[in-house]
Amino acid sequence: MVCLGNICRSPLAEGILKSKLPQTNFLVDSAGTGGWHAGEQPDKRSIAVAKKYGIDISTQKARKFTISDFDTFDFIYVMDKSNYADVLALAKKDHHKKKVTLILNELYSGKNVEVPDPYYGGEDGFEHVYKMLDAVCDVIAKKVLR
Ligand code: 4NP
Repeated sequence: MVCLGNICRSPLAEGILKSKLPQTNFLVDSAGTGGWHAGEQPDKRSIAVAKKYGIDISTQKARKFTISDFDTFDFIYVMDKSNYADVLALAKKDHHKKKVTLILNELYSGKNVEVPDPYYGGEDGFEHVYKMLDAVCDVIAKKVLR
């Protein structure tokens, strides 16, 4: 799960998808295309909305996306078109490029809908993002559990 800062959207995506999958069989992680927040906890507003729905993301630590992630993970889900461009620019191999998907295309195929960055908005933006990610993580969990 990849966003810009790895403190708002992708930590939620990580926590939500983990909650829908058996812990032992899947490696779910998140990262940011930027490293400014590396080592930090998720944004308080992301922690709060996750907690409201019974998910604890408070122990996550932000990190920057690295090219080794292309080999570690089978699926790389990005939140918006800017993340998509940034991650694709790091992919040197075709099979790495193919792993990168705009996350909401799993729900709205081919529509290129973005998960909006809630960082500069209010609490309701985090609620909106949570609901979007919860819906799409249902689809992703079903896909990988097939
Ligand atoms: P995220 O949100 O990409 O969903 O983690 C942001 C967090 C921090 C910044 C931008 C977006 N920032 O500019 O610091």
